[in-house]
Amino acid sequence: MDKRVSITDLKAMKERGEKIVMFTAYDYTGAHLVELAGIPIILVGDTLGMVMLGYDTTIPVTMEEMLHHVKAAVRGTTKTHIVADMPFGSYQASPSEALHNAARMLKEGGAQSVKLEGGARVAETVRLLVESGIPVMGHLGLTPQSVNQFGGYKVQGKTPAAAVRLINDAVALQEAGAYAVVLECVPVHVAKAITEKIEIPTIGIGAGWHCDGQVQVFHDLLGLYTEFLPKHAKRYANAGATIVDAVRAYAKDVRAGRFPTEKESFVAKPKPAPKQTREAGIQLESSRPARPPRV
Ligand code: KIV
Repeated sequence: MDKRVSITDLKAMKERGEKIVMFTAYDYTGAHLVELAGIPIILVGDTLGMVMLGYDTTIPVTMEEMLHHVKAAVRGTTKTHIVADMPFGSYQASPSEALHNAARMLKEGGAQSVKLEGGARVAETVRLLVESGIPVMGHLGLTPQSVNQFGGYKVQGKTPAAAVRLINDAVALQEAGAYAVVLECVPVHVAKAITEKIEIPTIGIGAGWHCDGQVQVFHDLLGLYTEFLPKHAKRYANAGATIVDAVRAYAKDVRAGRFPTEKESFVAKPKPAPKQTREAGIQLESSRPARPPRV
């Protein structure tokens, strides 16, 4: 059996002062490429609602949609730790419902841990999951499933009172047994205070450089989601433009009769036909398509 990165490995990275790199991926090919790049932890985030499924927010994402993508990411990897995001509505109603759904992410999805949004409010749920053998990553700050409550995608923890609430939430998650916590869109000094206060790793996204690790969204960094680039992201490639150029070049070749050529085709080698067949007029060579022009 292949050994995947464990939560113990991730905690040890914080202890060694080694930055933890987390990246999202949502399918077999994407997850496989991320593993090839040597990333130890993949988040199959509910951002897939936007970047893979075309929803406006993460709110409509269902358990079935998450499981579909988690399974694919797991199949594309052998060593990477796979975190399955719990979608909106799958863990808020009761700890027992959360346990039922989180267990599905491990049993059916094949993930190694789950992530859910919220602090002290979800601590009881986190405790039950952890006691049941399900490692949990917390998520604080701009928790996108609460976008309607926040009135938009806004930086959180800006006032001293809000910063203290965030720090207390991080402590509550740690005490409940979470193995790491994502800090999304919080001021740099607040992320630093949390990172110094708790022992479990903090993974930042728009939370500055003091965090123990960073997470970013596949489509943002690779330039696949071209409509918008969040302030916290940096574009490391322009894969969207590369894809459009490549598809255009393919279409141009097809229209000009330059693709496919013999190289991409299965041309039967003419065999000397038996006399009888030849008489019946069935000759392989004559049914062979005209050779297309070479590029
Ligand atoms: O769903 C997601 O991709 C996330 C990251 C942005 C942290 O929660």
